[in-house]
Amino acid sequence: MADPETAHGLALEGLRLGYGAGVSHLLCKSRSLPVTVMGLKFPNPVGMAAGMDKNGDYIDALGSLGFGFIEVGTVTPRPQPGNPKPRIFRLEKANAMINRLGFNNKGVDHLVQQVKKHRYKGILGINIGKNFDTPNDKAADDYLICLEKVYPYADYITINISSPNTRGLRDLQDTEQLNTLLAALNSKRLELAGEFNKRVPLLVKVAPDLEEGQIPGMAEVIVRNEFDGLIATNTTISRDAVKGLRHADEPGGLSGTPVKARANHVLKEFRSHLPDAVALIGTGGITEGEDAAEKIRLGADLVQFYTGFVYKGPDLVDDCLEAIEAQRSV
Ligand SMILES: Cc1cc2nc3c(=O)[nH]c(=O)nc-3n(C[C@H](O)[C@H](O)[C@H](O)COP(=O)(O)O)c2cc1C
Repeated sequence: MADPETAHGLALEGLRLGYGAGVSHLLCKSRSLPVTVMGLKFPNPVGMAAGMDKNGDYIDALGSLGFGFIEVGTVTPRPQPGNPKPRIFRLEKANAMINRLGFNNKGVDHLVQQVKKHRYKGILGINIGKNFDTPNDKAADDYLICLEKVYPYADYITINISSPNTRGLRDLQDTEQLNTLLAALNSKRLELAGEFNKRVPLLVKVAPDLEEGQIPGMAEVIVRNEFDGLIATNTTISRDAVKGLRHADEPGGLSGTPVKARANHVLKEFRSHLPDAVALIGTGGITEGEDAAEKIRLGADLVQFYTGFVYKGPDLVDDCLEAIEAQRSV
């Protein structure tokens, strides 16, 4: 069998061919469940999480599968190869994956070229990061470069400070560093909003591995710097839920069912510390419809998945919508 990264590339290429031939939409049952979040009209609240399409090469193909929104990236200012292969592992028994890709991507200029020519009409989020060799005290420069370049083309922009595969990145979640970074981004956004006559929502994506006491301070910094939303969560470095399984000891971020409990806990905590006006996207461990409905109950306005798509395919979009719709009508 092909290694998971090769399989991933082949599956996306297959999807693109299907889209080109006009048949990829046959994979999805389209269900309308509109929601307005951060001032944006989402056709439905179920999205594709960041990392599946890091370079914006598959926007139209993914967009034909019934998602209410698609988040592309993480993209960095300069292209970079990421970590040596193999760097993606499947833990099938646990509905899980471990990855240590390390922000492999073709750089923000390539992504902008792709985004300019897409035809997908749904909501497009762009997720930005920093190059691996940019020190943390210069990290803001990288995020600002990306922010400025993607701003005209994004419906929302996510600041990724929670990948475990870029050394030191998660330190940017510390209250003081977070405040410096978000303040710089918010003031740049003010400038860009004037220039482009649109205020693009900014979100921050956090790790599931936060210390209990960190959340209230982070929430305060998010509000102070006028951020519009938060994505909870990225992958986990914990291996508690997969002990003894094949590949469990591979370094990297663990996703899928084993991250669900921590991701849900972090989601719930942020909901209790953030005003309703700050949107929450619940991500981590959605592998069936009920997982998505649960995140909505815990306070998420929108949900996303990645690993669930790898195991369940596009049917998972409608399974989630069905469960969310059923929950709304009780
Ligand atoms: C192979 C892989 C690559 C990922 N790459 C990114 C990335 O570039 N940026 C990002 O913010 N999150 C990335 N993620 C994290 C996912 O977007 C998501 O937050 C996490 O996997 C938890 O959701 P899940 O359990 O539905 O996969 C990646 C996840 C996987 C499995």
